[in-house]
Amino acid sequence: MSILEALKSRAAMMPEHYKSLSVEEMERRVTAIKERLGTKLLIPGHHYQKDEVIQFADMTGDSLQLAQLAELNQEAEYIVFCGVHFMAETADMLTGQHQTVVLPDMRAGCSMADMADVEQTERAWAKLQEIFGDTIIPLTYVNSTAAIKAFVGRHGGATVTSSNASKVLRWALEQKERILFLPDQHLGRNTAFDLGIPLGEMTVWNPLTDELELTADQQRDEQRIILWKGHCSVHEKFTVQNIRMIRERDPEVQIIVHPECSREVVALSDCAGSTKYIIDTIRKAPAGSKWAVGTEMNLVQRIIQEHPEQHIESLNPDMCPCLTMNRIDLPHLLWSLEQIEKGQPVGIIQVPEAIREDAVLALERMLRIPG
Ligand code: 13P
Ligand code: SF4
Repeated sequence: MSILEALKSRAAMMPEHYKSLSVEEMERRVTAIKERLGTKLLIPGHHYQKDEVIQFADMTGDSLQLAQLAELNQEAEYIVFCGVHFMAETADMLTGQHQTVVLPDMRAGCSMADMADVEQTERAWAKLQEIFGDTIIPLTYVNSTAAIKAFVGRHGGATVTSSNASKVLRWALEQKERILFLPDQHLGRNTAFDLGIPLGEMTVWNPLTDELELTADQQRDEQRIILWKGHCSVHEKFTVQNIRMIRERDPEVQIIVHPECSREVVALSDCAGSTKYIIDTIRKAPAGSKWAVGTEMNLVQRIIQEHPEQHIESLNPDMCPCLTMNRIDLPHLLWSLEQIEKGQPVGIIQVPEAIREDAVLALERMLRIPG
């Protein structure tokens, strides 16, 4: 069921009475269902999920880890995915036919993934082929719909996560001269820059005007990385000004950000990487270290709680959590588990076979690139 279909169907909405249950009651019922279902049930949780949900996750991870773990698990009949829609679609595509993936709230989308639709992509591709000929390979960040992944798979490309972007871009540049990178311009630009590609050889494709946004000093034929004009509205809130203020206040603070932040922010930071990289880097740092973290707020709060021996703050003090990730809460988790026990699961994510076949090509290419 697509997000739109689900939203039209009342059966896909949680009954109101769940909201009036006490936290203790909900926790008790979730714990009991987990005990009853045992290994028939698997709850993966992305690092951006709320604590009230993550406490029940059987595994936590960044997008790459969750995709790999979904692929490995053959046992669970139900996978209740605590994350956003594209992650649940990926889990559905990588798990077996005997396994059912459920998203506890179908409104948990990703605004970045919604910035590229397949019709826009087909149009862009046709125009780019006219301009550059057969010199381009498409890559898509996993934060994209299954239909975009299928487009990429059909055209010989691969998916990318924030943990393996360098490796996949390097592989792509061995296949073709140019890359079309969907849908996050920032991850594409930051990764290509780290691989030594000058900013002058990267340009933006605007899907609303169907044009390349070349700057005055750029030559069209020299462009090697074509970046889809998409972004994450959460990570765009970290600014150069935030970094300057922290550096002026305390030069000892190290700044660590997610590569969905803009090039300017990443360039001024001390390091950048996936959610797993951020967690691991701070975990390994000595007591007394000072950090300003540029990523989603639920994760930053958790890192702060887990490391009382370090001084950790958000890079932007006015930061909000990712609102779509936050749609998954304890009442929705309980509701979706109770529906499974009743034999009436809701929020089933099932990617149509025609899309799945091609999208899996893109996912498998990513998972099989050595190194
Ligand atoms: P990670 O793969 O780094 O966990 O990132 C996923 C995401 O959506 C970041 O906004
Ligand atoms: Fe999407 Fe940004 Fe939320 Fe990640 S943080 S799920 S990219 S909207």
